[in-house]
Amino acid sequence: MENSTLRQNQWQLIAWMAVWLAGAPPLAGQTTLRAAAAARAIPIGAAASADEYGPPDLLKVTAYANLLSGEYSMLEPGNAMKWDVTEPSIGAFNFQPGDELVAFAQANGMRVRGHNLCWHTQLPAWLQPYANTATPAQMAALLQTHINTVVTHFQGQVFAWDVVNEAFADPSGEAAPGLRDSIWYDQPGIGQTGTGYIEQAFRWAHAADPAALLFYNDYGIEGPGPKFDAVLGMVQDFVSRGVPINGVGFEMHIMTNGYPSAAGLAQNMQQLAALGIQAHITEMDVRLPVDSSGDASAADLQTQAQVYQTIMTVCLQQPNCTAFQVWGVSYNDSWIPSFFPGYGAALPFDWNYQPTPAFGGLMSALQTTAPTLNANNVVSAASYQGGTVAPGEIVTIFGANYGPASLVTYQLDASGRFATSLAGVEVLFDGAPAPLVYALAGQVSAIVPFEVAGKQQTVIEYQYNPGNGAVVSNTAAVAVAGAVPAIFSLNQSGSGPGAILNSDNTVNSASNPVAAGGVIQIFGTGGGTLAGGATDGAVAPAAALLTTAPTATIGGVPAVVDYAGAAPDLVNGAIQVNLTIPQGLAPGPQPVVITIGSASSQKGITVAVK
Ligand code: XIL
Repeated sequence: MENSTLRQNQWQLIAWMAVWLAGAPPLAGQTTLRAAAAARAIPIGAAASADEYGPPDLLKVTAYANLLSGEYSMLEPGNAMKWDVTEPSIGAFNFQPGDELVAFAQANGMRVRGHNLCWHTQLPAWLQPYANTATPAQMAALLQTHINTVVTHFQGQVFAWDVVNEAFADPSGEAAPGLRDSIWYDQPGIGQTGTGYIEQAFRWAHAADPAALLFYNDYGIEGPGPKFDAVLGMVQDFVSRGVPINGVGFEMHIMTNGYPSAAGLAQNMQQLAALGIQAHITEMDVRLPVDSSGDASAADLQTQAQVYQTIMTVCLQQPNCTAFQVWGVSYNDSWIPSFFPGYGAALPFDWNYQPTPAFGGLMSALQTTAPTLNANNVVSAASYQGGTVAPGEIVTIFGANYGPASLVTYQLDASGRFATSLAGVEVLFDGAPAPLVYALAGQVSAIVPFEVAGKQQTVIEYQYNPGNGAVVSNTAAVAVAGAVPAIFSLNQSGSGPGAILNSDNTVNSASNPVAAGGVIQIFGTGGGTLAGGATDGAVAPAAALLTTAPTATIGGVPAVVDYAGAAPDLVNGAIQVNLTIPQGLAPGPQPVVITIGSASSQKGITVAVK
């Protein structure tokens, strides 16, 4: 087969890449918390109310609604999903206020955190009398029905649930705290010992919505100490036994007294990260002493701004801190004055819905905290497998959370090469900027310079706005291999049907299979160096062959390699491998594997054979 007829326009590869990133809301500028947080790929939220306890419906208050949707990308019902609202009489559910909050969030492109499914307080009036005479089996049935009904109702609408809230008692002295007495634990409880009731609640929630992230949420665990240790012990136990838990919520109802310290909070988050557990700041407010009009001193507001900045900075520095939320939209709806008499002024927006110094503290953290680069987050753009890079490999780097809030795809420079600076983002390999395929906060795709060939490792650094108030990441060393072949998947998942064309340049698919003896064109990356070398970021002018020729199998049967090299008209780094379909394969999807040296492409890529 004449290779020159087998050309794939680079726009199609770019289109495949762009589809991976669909869903990021375009946000311009960084004058709001929402836009600044989007540029760090972190959701920022606020506790919100509709009219769950009666009028007025805050979502109908224009200033409130505008601030909530303008400044925040996430909301959590402050009360509307609690038992006293959702199950006002036994077995009868009220989702109206929760639905209204979800609809508001969806209309404004915001996520919803669910709060909460199992707590010792804000229970409906009928429940305590019921618990007084119920058996543990009846309590278990009641809790299971509640969790199943509520989670099922909001399935697909709530991305994360506080499944169990504040289950640990406050420690006295240095004693390890026990579990708090409650109708769910021991009065009468649901018939489980220790943290068994918490485990059961998580299992029921997971059964109702397997896709929702499940959190344990508490206060007083933001810094090291016996209460955090008790929670950590439970999480360790749950993780080791496969109990479905994804995260721990740090409520963060704090004062300006130094608790938690930045180091202490970071340490706690790191201990959770070591278990694969996320952390959310769920209910932050910083209460200040206030005068009779509810206002704090200017000096206290400045101190408070520092506290907000510190907590947000720690969150941005810890890769497992994946959401940040404050407990209320403005002073007007903060819970602090009524629960902590003499205190208030706890949020980043005041009585007039205007930003306070705390807003400035959050913005500073969002705009100046250095991005964190983690070698494990540098992965093949085709397989999402990492650990090793190869010359010319197209890689995706996740988690260096700074960059444009909406996707910016490659641009050609004056020499017709992929530019090395895109929307202020640069990725350096051993100090030299790499050609970029796309940039987005939290996700950037770069082409490993061919200059790394022959090295043991390469040192990667991420920069945003170089030379202009730049934020510069740490450096991360990644091992270099000669080749790490990987095949692009059609649906950008890294597996399933491959990015494969039949010889007539139509996309291979179940409805467009290829016959034995037919030739397919496979697109991938990680093939290593090209004969005659290759220019970084240049569009491949012609068919330059891979230095090390691959072998291949289809359906486990060796396949003849007709061509392996640069993909003509695609950027250097993308590779094309043409294979002849062996005889005798069963019709249907057959696995395709390309091997170069000791490295093989990912499992799970298929070609449709007839
Ligand atoms: C508070 C609400 O903000 C108030 O409106 C309500 O009267 C009491 O509860 N920890 C939590 C939250 O997990 O649910 C609490 O919210 C604040 C403390």
